[in-house]
Amino acid sequence: MSFLTSGTHLHITTWVIALVLFFIAAFASKKLTGVQMALRVMYILIIISGGALFLEWRDKITESGMNYDMKVLFGILVIGFMEMILARKNKGKSVNIFWILFGVVLLVTLYLGLSMGIGINF
Ligand code: HEM
Repeated sequence: MSFLTSGTHLHITTWVIALVLFFIAAFASKKLTGVQMALRVMYILIIISGGALFLEWRDKITESGMNYDMKVLFGILVIGFMEMILARKNKGKSVNIFWILFGVVLLVTLYLGLSMGIGINF
């Protein structure tokens, strides 16, 4: 299964597509059921591609320490907030605070991902 772990392109592709679908669903005036279903499929692919990277690289990249585990935690939180925003929007509840939390965890996730061992590294 080296296509899952030899690089980060697959993982990046999955979360970029997910973000695009999320913004389409979040800014649509009505509920887009099909887009939300596709988004849930992307969540699974994000978790598979990210989980494979984690299992492969966690023990090999020792200098990042706990950051590797934090990356996974924050990645899952990003998915959680996307779901929460769409669920609350569909029910007509306020979503402002969740947009702020989503923005913060997304930035932390991007920072943790890009500052670690493999793939793109600034
Ligand atoms: C929408 C949510 C997510 C975003 C925006 C995201 C973003 C990123 C980014 C920017 C990178 C760095 C890619 C590179 O350096 O080339 C990365 C790598 C990684 N991601 Fe995610 N990710 C998300 C979800 C997840 C999840 C759910 C997991 C675990 C199940 C995960 C595990 C990983 C791992 C292990 C790496 C490799 C870190 C490294 O050594 O560079 N990610 N992710």
